Amino acid sequence: MLTYLDHPNGWWRDNAQKQIIILDDKSVVPALKAMASGKNGTSALGRLHALWTLEGLNAIDKPTIYAALKDTDPQIRKAAIWISEIFLKQNDQTLIATIGKMANDENYDIKTQILLSLGTNKSALAKQIVQDILTQNAHNQMIMSVKKSIDKNEDAKIYGIKLAGFSPPERKLILAGGEIYKSLCSACHGADGKGLPTNAAPALRGAKHINADKDIAIRILMNGLKGPIEGKTYPSVMLAMNDNSDEWVASVVSYIRYEFVGTSMRVGKGRQSAVVQASDVKKIREQHAGKTEPWTIEELEQLSAVINQ
Ligand code: HEC
Repeated sequence: MLTYLDHPNGWWRDNAQKQIIILDDKSVVPALKAMASGKNGTSALGRLHALWTLEGLNAIDKPTIYAALKDTDPQIRKAAIWISEIFLKQNDQTLIATIGKMANDENYDIKTQILLSLGTNKSALAKQIVQDILTQNAHNQMIMSVKKSIDKNEDAKIYGIKLAGFSPPERKLILAGGEIYKSLCSACHGADGKGLPTNAAPALRGAKHINADKDIAIRILMNGLKGPIEGKTYPSVMLAMNDNSDEWVASVVSYIRYEFVGTSMRVGKGRQSAVVQASDVKKIREQHAGKTEPWTIEELEQLSAVINQ
């Protein structure tokens, strides 16, 4: 079966590789290592399949990796870096240094693979190698887009998929709003936005007015709200919060839209982000500068209907 790994026809190569891995027959490992190192005139494709088969059998070792890193064929050097990740994860400094020396490989697949394999490695040496590649290839689109996608994945690990979808300044706004919400708004609206058993205030989770025109939520926060919502009356009113800065209002509105109604939402024909900027708040503040009375829902709906026509 091994000879099929070097078959000119890809179907035979792929199936031989699959079969060997499924059978999990470790007796073929020495022969595979010989093939991977190009003995007996194994072709580049044969060497590549031998490497991946060893990986599939969990039988890859460092001498095989080191030999493959020096292969004349760039696709094999690339695969060797990729497959070496099990050792890179253990922070093997010698291996990291060896791969670091390949950063000047004229083949961009190699540089890209180094970024992918070392991009999340926490060792100082790996970080330096990655930084050097980025500095030296700052104008290469492929390298820069790989860097972006690595960062995105890292962000998703740190912030969770949902929050990672926002830019860093937007994230900051949402997180700051979350702090304000916890310390102030949750007292009436509940920490989870579902309201309190006392029914002191409406639930914000899924509230249609927060979801709709972002200006409605800004207006409520700025000047407050009174009177029934969806046919329900509450014992008190929503207080005006326009003593706070534009940034403060923007962050808490961003947070409730993000947390309780989704990351982005359909409004009319376009998509509207959950995030509200300080400049949006400033505009509303100027629009209703003399206002002292709280809004009613009817007034807000009318205002939005007129503006959005
Ligand atoms: C002292 C209690 C209290 C606090 C604190 C409070 N609210 Fe309210 N909120 C209310 C009440 C009561 C209403 C309903 C007013 C009405 O009957 O029209 C309301 C209504 C709202 C609405 C409209 C909901 C809808 O369905 O249209 C929003 C949005 C809102 N509040 C956001 C906030 C945010 C954000 C904070 C924190 C910055 C906050 N509230 C803090 C009592 C409170």
